[in-house]
Amino acid sequence: MKIAIIGTGRLGSTLGKMWAEKDHTIMFGSRDPQKAKKLANSIGSGASGGTYEEAAKFADIIVLAVPWSGAKESIKTAGVLDGKILVDSTTTAAPHLGGVSIGPTTSAAEKIAKWAVGAKVIKAVHTVGVESLNKLQFGSQQANIFICGDNLEAKSKVKQLGIDLGFDVIDAGPLINARLIEPLAMLWIELAYKQGMGTDIAFKLLTRRKTR
Ligand SMILES: NC(=O)c1ccc[n+]([C@@H]2O[C@H](COP(=O)([O-])OP(=O)(O)OC[C@H]3O[C@@H](n4cnc5c(N)ncnc54)[C@H](OP(=O)(O)O)[C@@H]3O)[C@@H](O)[C@H]2O)c1
Repeated sequence: MKIAIIGTGRLGSTLGKMWAEKDHTIMFGSRDPQKAKKLANSIGSGASGGTYEEAAKFADIIVLAVPWSGAKESIKTAGVLDGKILVDSTTTAAPHLGGVSIGPTTSAAEKIAKWAVGAKVIKAVHTVGVESLNKLQFGSQQANIFICGDNLEAKSKVKQLGIDLGFDVIDAGPLINARLIEPLAMLWIELAYKQGMGTDIAFKLLTRRKTR
């Protein structure tokens, strides 16, 4: 798939590298296009770099890997997103990791869907630390991610991208359920950083049924 990564920070660069290794075609978008080009060159595999708008135009799937505080401006800068799949990976921790900053009657993903007119927004990849992305197997258990969104075809494509990363992906239903799965990221942050469990942790839903 042609994937644009908006934001060349820790999450965006790691996701781009991992998906490039799975034969996806990556274009990084950056506020500084030279930074995106340099990152793309370091990855190889046909990856390229440019502005947010150039990356968004190039791809069918756009991953928003920017801080929540910069999300609205980044979406505006990315230009026309009508018809595109937009993956919202933002976490909405309050300043100083002090709990949840949005909810419970709305969510970051729902706000993003309003800003990105016509885009098919899917919430995903927000409940695990970037440090764990290369080690999602915990003994016999495979880490879960929870995704949600209203467009089933878009969600199925994003689910496949999650599987490509090594996740056991749980479909948590429509986009409104971002209100339920966004706070999980804050639980992850609380456990990892404040309760001293460290970043080598991930969520697992126990079930006797197949989750795929
Ligand atoms: N790191 C994790 O473990 C992790 C895990 C799950 C979810 N997330 C979420 O994923 C998103 C990205 O996280 P990250 O760790 O990659 O963050 P990061 O290392 O700080 O990178 C964020 C990138 O966003 C872009 N950006 C756009 N507007 C910005 C602004 N106003 N201020 C700062 N940067 C801005 C920048 O890329 P350019 O300069 O290239 O434009 C920057 O490099 C966040 O919402 C975070 O909560 C992170």
